Amino acid sequence: MSATWYEALPVYVRRAVIGQIGGVKPGPAATDPHTSCAAGIVIRGDGERVFLKASSRIRNPHSAASQGYEVIAANLVAPLGISPRLIRSLSVDEWSVLLVHEAPGRPADYSPGSADLPLLVQALRAVGTVQLAPGSGLPTVVDRFGPHLAPAHRSLLQGSSLLHYDVSPGNTRVSNDGTLALLDWGRASIGPAWVEAAGMYRWLVYAGHTHTSAMRWVLEVCPAWNSVSRSARSAYLAAARSEIPDPPEHCEGWLPLLVGSA
Ligand SMILES: Nc1ncnc2c1ncn2[C@@H]1O[C@H](COP(=O)(O)OP(=O)(O)OP(=O)(O)O)[C@@H](O)[C@H]1O
Ligand SMILES: [Mg+2]
Repeated sequence: MSATWYEALPVYVRRAVIGQIGGVKPGPAATDPHTSCAAGIVIRGDGERVFLKASSRIRNPHSAASQGYEVIAANLVAPLGISPRLIRSLSVDEWSVLLVHEAPGRPADYSPGSADLPLLVQALRAVGTVQLAPGSGLPTVVDRFGPHLAPAHRSLLQGSSLLHYDVSPGNTRVSNDGTLALLDWGRASIGPAWVEAAGMYRWLVYAGHTHTSAMRWVLEVCPAWNSVSRSARSAYLAAARSEIPDPPEHCEGWLPLLVGSA
């Protein structure tokens, strides 16, 4: 068990953490240790395990800013019981720090036939029930895409649903008792609910689904999928493929999302 990730944090950050949750021992790292961002488990005196994520606002401003969105989303989803609870968010000098209850388990298995997929659907449907008014503090899908979305397409991606918007297997945990947790709300956004299903489609295809098999789950997450216009799907795909630095052959896997659209 390496403690390097924790010891790489400045001593004043570690002191601030201890000031909030008491003395801790470092547990396993969640990410490789580097100097601008660190994440891993810390273990409190009573044995409770807490996930700690720290980002330097100077050296990793994007990650530090996303922590602000994680805090907003944590409050919105707390009543849904689909994510570990936020314990504290701290701002210490240039560092933003989140302390979250540990979500034990393993990343969800998105492959065809996996028993984790119904759990994922249930969690994403719960997220989609949260409706937000402007001014919630989260970016819209249009904001997220920025210059990747053609100005003429902006009106096609308007919506008021909460979106996790980053539903990769690495941002999930399934515990031994079969509970799925959605983690890492740093890309939480506001937009049309179908966009979440479209984002999930990509990860299903990467996990080995055919179009037919992936669409079964898309329709479970978003029963209204077939009423999303072809132009809206097309606008989403064009922006997403422009934004995400995946190899072109991976991006090809998304194109069937246009199949069968009106
Ligand atoms: N509450 C938690 N309990 C246990 N492990 C967690 C928890 N939250 C996140 N993790 C693990 O830590 C990893 C990194 O955390 P997270 O996904 O929040 O940050 P990130 O994607 O590395 O960073 P960034 O927020 O900068 O995008 C996750 O992929 C997951 O494996
Ligand atoms: Mg993540």
